[in-house]
Amino acid sequence: MLEIKNLRLKYIDSKDFILDWISFNLRKWEIFSILWPSWCWKTTLINAIGGLLDENEVILHWEVNLHNENIWIVFQTPSLIPWKTAYENISIVLKKQDDEKILRLFKMVDLQWYEGYFPKKLSIWMQQRLNFIRALAIDPDILLLDEPFSALDTVTKKKIMTEFKDILEDRNIACIFVTHNENEAEFLSKKIIYLTQKPTKIKKTENA
Ligand SMILES: Nc1ncnc2c1ncn2[C@@H]1O[C@H](COP(=O)(O)OP(=O)(O)OP(=O)(O)O)[C@@H](O)[C@H]1O
Ligand SMILES: [Mg+2]
Repeated sequence: MLEIKNLRLKYIDSKDFILDWISFNLRKWEIFSILWPSWCWKTTLINAIGGLLDENEVILHWEVNLHNENIWIVFQTPSLIPWKTAYENISIVLKKQDDEKILRLFKMVDLQWYEGYFPKKLSIWMQQRLNFIRALAIDPDILLLDEPFSALDTVTKKKIMTEFKDILEDRNIACIFVTHNENEAEFLSKKIIYLTQKPTKIKKTENA
């Protein structure tokens, strides 16, 4: 569904390639994690796959095969529009208005009473839930998760990760979860790709 071959990436002002010869495939409905330490270009990799890197800042060589799949990223911190209500933050990504669909999504994460709230009046975990249902609202084939749970306390994290995992599996959404947290990786996915630091290469792949 998504095939990445021989990815090499460097920032224009860095000497060496920071991601070096990385290859992996994401199969239909598969969820896997890419695990490597903090400060190791996790967000950079997600942005590369999502097509968000600035061509003036990076040099990127790769072969990528992607067939019309819809990709969406759930960012590390909730990226909601502050001057729009919770409801409007979701409706804005829909091609056509669909109140029923939006209500279903709000109910899915127990936020149905908060549709009229602005993001700043919602706690961080409520915002992260909104962030997540906004990703679901566009019916993605592939979701890229950039450590969306890292800002949450342990109890909330467990609860939200369980919810997210159930929803991803129910909806058969393929997913790449990039993280530095081994416990989170093991919880969310059966397959984990371990990367090394500097230069970043694939160390091993484990299937639970
Ligand atoms: N435009 C740029 N030019 C040069 N270096 C950059 C640029 N953007 C980011 N970097 C550097 O790339 C490195 C990796 O950043 P990135 O945000 O991808 O790491 P990360 O693994 O997601 O970090 P974290 O664990 O904090 O989320 C950082 O050292 C950062 O300073
Ligand atoms: Mg990051």
